[in-house]
Amino acid sequence: MRKKILATALSLTMAATLLVGCGGGGQDASSDKSSDKGGGDKKEIVVGFSQVGAESDWRTANSESMKSTFSKENGYELIFDDAQQKQENQITAIRNFIQQEVDYIILAPVTETGWDTVLKEAKDADIPVIIVDRMVEVSDDSLYTAWVGSNFKLEGQKACEWLKAYAEAKGIKEINIVDIQGTIGASAQIGRTEALNDAVKANGWNLVAQQTGEFTQAKGQEVMESILKKGDDINVVYCENDNEAFGAIDAIKAAGKKVGPDGDILVMSFDTVKDGITKTMEGEIICNTECNPLHGSRVEEIIKKLEDGGTPDKQAYVEEGIYAHSDDVAKVTIDGTDYEVTKVTQEVIDKRAY
Ligand code: AHR
Repeated sequence: MRKKILATALSLTMAATLLVGCGGGGQDASSDKSSDKGGGDKKEIVVGFSQVGAESDWRTANSESMKSTFSKENGYELIFDDAQQKQENQITAIRNFIQQEVDYIILAPVTETGWDTVLKEAKDADIPVIIVDRMVEVSDDSLYTAWVGSNFKLEGQKACEWLKAYAEAKGIKEINIVDIQGTIGASAQIGRTEALNDAVKANGWNLVAQQTGEFTQAKGQEVMESILKKGDDINVVYCENDNEAFGAIDAIKAAGKKVGPDGDILVMSFDTVKDGITKTMEGEIICNTECNPLHGSRVEEIIKKLEDGGTPDKQAYVEEGIYAHSDDVAKVTIDGTDYEVTKVTQEVIDKRAY
């Protein structure tokens, strides 16, 4: 859209210059200059953002971050589309953005696969695509310009290392674990599930059940209820996000069991949204691995670099922490790197921006 506006501004400027050159107008050079400025430099950058949906507190914080960054005051026009967790809606949104000739397309993909065709359409239309949060798996990397998001496998590895160390510290001999997975095929699910499957194998844990909770509280609760009904021995639930954990905790309590370090079941989670780390301080969630949603400024940095004619990093991981109810485990080590575990206090919660 801005490309068209810039072209129009340029031809108007050229026409004005020609008129002045012919000596026919009363315009002086300074008024010419200010009209240039008004018509060219100050135009908004038009950004189309296809968001996954509003399935979790994390997602709400992520949408807020994008909306506050890509605001009118900051020089943007943001076209925001909520896909309600459906890939077909995201594909339609991207096609609409192409038709509207936006300057940039930002995509937070629901799942990794199935993007080749529509991203090729964006490339053919010469619109840079920035992927945020989850990843895309495409046959040709040039179909997107840059990606910024979390290392979901590393998040899962941190959580599993924490569980291993905690079980050792507490003398827990047997781990009977349930995995409430995220949306199947989403990078956040793939990485976190993969890390758990590896740890189950390596440590001889018993994986009692593995089922998707689609990253929502309602589904997390429903899945946990049905698993509990089977009556299996369960002492750990690995929820792949905070909202699933909230649902699972409700289901466990409703079944007459206690969550927490002195209870029947330890609940683990990811995200560390405000309610998530509050429950971590209280012990209802025993360990919570951070997934940072504040991507607005990170994406803006990429756009600014492109606007300045630079080349942003193709892929950039966000740095994230790990939080726990207690200080029984001080750090976890993954591939030779130490990650300090933060015990959640009120101060930690007060500082949380999401
Ligand atoms: O892709 C990030 C994940 O998606 C977050 O863990 C989850 O809460 C969200 O819905």
